[in-house]
Amino acid sequence: MRLILIGPPGAGKGTQAAFIKEHFGIPQISTGDMLRAAVKAGTPLGLKAKAVMASGGLVSDDIILGLMKERLAKPDCEKGFLLDGFPRTIPQAEALRQTGIPIDFVLEISVPDEEIITRISGRRIDPASGRTYHVKYNPPKVEGRDDVTGAPLIQRDDDKEEVVRNRLKVYHEQTEALVKFYSDLAASGDASAPKYRSISGLGTIEEITARVFDALK
Ligand code: AP5
Ligand code: ZN
Repeated sequence: MRLILIGPPGAGKGTQAAFIKEHFGIPQISTGDMLRAAVKAGTPLGLKAKAVMASGGLVSDDIILGLMKERLAKPDCEKGFLLDGFPRTIPQAEALRQTGIPIDFVLEISVPDEEIITRISGRRIDPASGRTYHVKYNPPKVEGRDDVTGAPLIQRDDDKEEVVRNRLKVYHEQTEALVKFYSDLAASGDASAPKYRSISGLGTIEEITARVFDALK
């Protein structure tokens, strides 16, 4: 299974990705997680990405495409993969098409802007694994601790309300166009085009998971 997840910040991409990767036995490739790891490690890539991410803008297509070419060439991608947060611009989607790597599904999870702010303000993550919780909707077993390792959970630097509002603006300006890009491609009759599916991301986490697997049949 080769799959792309599209959706605004806080739509539940990372949350649902955990179930999808488990079910299909494929790696979850999150450009956001990769960039956060680079920022934390202080690599040259991390130094370039840090300020852009903190403001809620997008890291340049060149950097992202270099990172993804390297990642998709790794042996664990042979059995398939789930892309979470990539592509995020039309040039990124075109570059992915040009690699000739066939994609089975593009799945959009749509959530209205008002709901996003509530979700993101309660989000907590385990910075090492990227595992995601919500203080109210998906609390960890022990308050403030990761379920698997027990490490302290943190809030992401870009989860402050004004940064979230900018991430939403950037989503509408640059990423939402991918919905049309992929739905047009699916309707074009091109046999190599991925199937396009869109589901509502409103409801409980379990309800969305059921919708996800229904859409991928
Ligand atoms: P990235 O890490 O990709 O962030 P994002 O797209 O803004 O998405 P989020 O991770 O915020 O949301 P999510 O959909 O994964 O939601 P989650 O499951 O956590 O990117 C970060 C930054 O990196 C970008 O701003 C950019 O600077 C850079 N970047 C990354 N990729 C790039 C690219 N390709 N090109 C250029 N720049 C790039 O859920 C959110 C919260 O809601 C959680 O607390 C969760 O527990 C809760 N929740 C989930 N589902 C439900 C539900 N059904 N009901 C109630 N609560 C729920
Ligand atoms: Zn995420």
